[in-house]
Amino acid sequence: MWGGRFARAPAEIMEEINASVDFDKRLAEDDIRGSLAHVEMLAATGIITKTNAARIRQGLETIADEIAAGVFTFSRALEDVHMNIEARLFELIGPVAGKLHTARSRNDQVATDFRLYIRRMIDGLDAGLAELQGNLVAQALAHAETVMPGFTHLQNAQPVTFGHHLLAYVEMLARDRGRLSDARARLNECPLGAAALAGTSFPIDRKQTAAALGFARPMANSLDAVSDRDFVLETLAAATIAAVHLSRLAEEIVLWTSPAFGFLALSDRFTTGSSIMPQKRNPDAAELVRAKTGRIAAAFQSLVMVMKGLPLAYSKDMQEDKEATFAALDALALMIAAMAGMVADMKANPERLAEAAATGYATATDLADWLVREKGLTFREAHHVTGRIVACAEARGVALDALTLEDMRAIDKRIDQGVFDVLSVARSVKSRKSYGGTAPQNVRKMAQTWQKRLEKEKVRR
Ligand code: ARG
Repeated sequence: MWGGRFARAPAEIMEEINASVDFDKRLAEDDIRGSLAHVEMLAATGIITKTNAARIRQGLETIADEIAAGVFTFSRALEDVHMNIEARLFELIGPVAGKLHTARSRNDQVATDFRLYIRRMIDGLDAGLAELQGNLVAQALAHAETVMPGFTHLQNAQPVTFGHHLLAYVEMLARDRGRLSDARARLNECPLGAAALAGTSFPIDRKQTAAALGFARPMANSLDAVSDRDFVLETLAAATIAAVHLSRLAEEIVLWTSPAFGFLALSDRFTTGSSIMPQKRNPDAAELVRAKTGRIAAAFQSLVMVMKGLPLAYSKDMQEDKEATFAALDALALMIAAMAGMVADMKANPERLAEAAATGYATATDLADWLVREKGLTFREAHHVTGRIVACAEARGVALDALTLEDMRAIDKRIDQGVFDVLSVARSVKSRKSYGGTAPQNVRKMAQTWQKRLEKEKVRR
């Protein structure tokens, strides 16, 4: 492509370090889309003739078909996806192919391709996250009343409902979707026409190409257009946070499906057996969701390192923005799909959850609150009295609601029969009606709100 200035071919090792086609062929579809928009604009502005534009368009469409059919051969000697496509265009339509690169550089070309790629990946991730949210909401609705232990420090804290716990993830995923959608809105500007770095002397129409590619507007500064990858960083940051959320849910699934907890069973479709221990049901998919989070965080970190010392405008360093990003976004899509499957199929064990919810004196706070509300103790005083009652239950080896009234009155005379109203787990969760609290009526309402919201989104999509 630049043979004019060079007398000798590149060293083999040069080709190996320099060529990106092995991975950036992933951008082929976006590259052709960008070229089609560019060639239309070149014709509309009279920079090339309509006849030549039509020949180039036909050639590009043939190439798109070849790529889709898997019969296109990418060659390392041609360095990257852009030059592979241009070389093939030359084979197909002859020297007129050389007009396509008028008023364009690979620098604005690759920036455009990558934005198109990230944009469609974000759309796919968003749809996957919405599906996962839907599956969580369905389980939440089915388990609005199922009690379980709520934990802090992984110690039994206060009873909650299983539905409430699942809806916490629905909220997290909503913010993940928000972050991805913010990134999408910010990246949706078109670098094409920035050329190598300074713009071009040809009378191009950047608004036309931007619109043709579905971008909101052309990028305002040619140097910025070819030299920043903040849109990739922002997407990877959002992806990392989403992965962390999935990883935490995965961790809970791993814990809860362990017989030591017995809260949850995954379906056969999402478990594996052991080659030696016949009784085993391993939550491999959940474990891998947890583990793959590492490579997404690493992709973010890796690109931060690539970018941090680069002077404006383009440097070849930026070619290293792609491999890890492709792998990270693929991993996230797979994690979301696996999690959606696990959540749809999983079966909670309400008896076991209720049993666990009742252990660990989980209604102690309810007792303290009752002493404040009904008997006028200060909260600190009530905390102390309750602590002594818990110690008494522990000494007797019974739950709070199995203590006798005499046991409790021996600690504080003000306690009466009414106390038993608040000591059961079911009453405890039912009483947590404050906005955002765990009461079954809240959970049902919130799950229904989410169902409607997700349904509406689906219609829009
Ligand atoms: N393969 C290159 C990349 O991914 C395309 C841009 C090359 N530009 C250049 N001036 N060598 O970054």
